[in-house]
Amino acid sequence: MKPILEASDVTFTYPGAQTPSLHQLNIRIPEGKRTAICGPNGSGKSTFFLHAVGIHRPKSGTMLWKDAPYVYKNEDLQRLRRQVGLVFQDPEQQLILHTTYEDVSYGLRNARLEEQEIRRRTERMLDLMGLTPWAETPLHQLSLGLKKRVALAGVLVLEPELLLLDEPTAYLDRRSEHRLVEELNRIHGQGITVAMATHDLNMAYAWADWILVMYEGACVMEGTPEHVFTEADVLAAYGLELPALVELWKALPADRRLGAKPPRDIAAWKAMQETWR
Ligand SMILES: Nc1ncnc2c1ncn2[C@@H]1O[C@H](COP(=O)(O)OP(=O)(O)OP(=O)(O)O)[C@@H](O)[C@H]1O
Ligand SMILES: [Mg+2]
Repeated sequence: MKPILEASDVTFTYPGAQTPSLHQLNIRIPEGKRTAICGPNGSGKSTFFLHAVGIHRPKSGTMLWKDAPYVYKNEDLQRLRRQVGLVFQDPEQQLILHTTYEDVSYGLRNARLEEQEIRRRTERMLDLMGLTPWAETPLHQLSLGLKKRVALAGVLVLEPELLLLDEPTAYLDRRSEHRLVEELNRIHGQGITVAMATHDLNMAYAWADWILVMYEGACVMEGTPEHVFTEADVLAAYGLELPALVELWKALPADRRLGAKPPRDIAAWKAMQETWR
C-alpha cells in the first residue's frame, strides 16, 4: 500500500487549548483507494484534514505528500491545494461569493482558465450535482444541504488528485447522498484518490475499501472494512458501533450466512436472502 498523503508523528495543539488535538498522529491515506476515516466527535478528523491542506501546521512531526515533506511557503501551499481538495465540514466556512455559479467557478477563475472553459466546466458540474436550478440564487438563501452541495461542486470542479471530504453526507437527503456516492465513484474511477471523514458507519462499510479509525488525536485502527468492522469490542472501546448489515449478519444462524463475510450493501444482502428460498 503506497500512501499519497501521510502524517508522521504529528502533534498539534490549538492556541489556548490544554491538550493536543493531534497526538503523535501516524496516518496514511493509500493512493488510489476510497478511504473512510471514522472516529467519535473530537477525535481529530477535521484537524487532520486541515493539516492535509496546510491550513494548520504541526507543532512537531511531518506532513508528507507523495513522500515529500510539506513546505510552508506560499507557492508550495498553492500547488498543494491544487493537488489536495478539501470539502469542509461546515459549508459556511467554504462559500465566499454571492451566487452558486460564481462560487463554483471561483477556483477555475483563480487558476486563470479561459472564460469559455470556465463556463463549460462550471455548467457541467452544476448539472452533475443537480444545482442548475439554483445557479443564480444568492448563497445565503440556500438550505444547508444545498450549500454543502455547492461547496462540494466548487472543489470537484478543480479535479484534485486527492479529494478530502469532511462529513460529506451531513445535511444531505437520501437522493443527494446517492448522487454524491455515484459522483465519488465516478471520480474515483478516473484515478482520483478519495477520503472522507464520516460518522455514517453504514456508508463507510458500503462505500470504502479502506478504513482508518481515529481516537483522541491518534490513528488506532486501519484495514479493509471486512477486517475493521468485525472487531466489535475494539470498536466499542473507541465509541463506535458496527454497521447495521454486520450486526444483522451476526444475528443470523450460521447456516443462513452465505460466505465468511457479511454483505456490503442491501443488494448483496438480498442476493443472500434469495439463497434461503
Ligand atoms: N478551532 C479550535 N480551537 C480549539 N480547539 C479546537 C478547535 N477545533 C477543534 N478543536 C478541538 O480539537 C479536538 C479535535 O477536534 P476535531 O474537530 O478535529 O475533531 P473531529 O474528529 O473532526 O470531530 P467531529 O466528529 O465532531 O467533527 C477537539 O477536542 C476539539 O474540541
Ligand atoms: Mg470534524
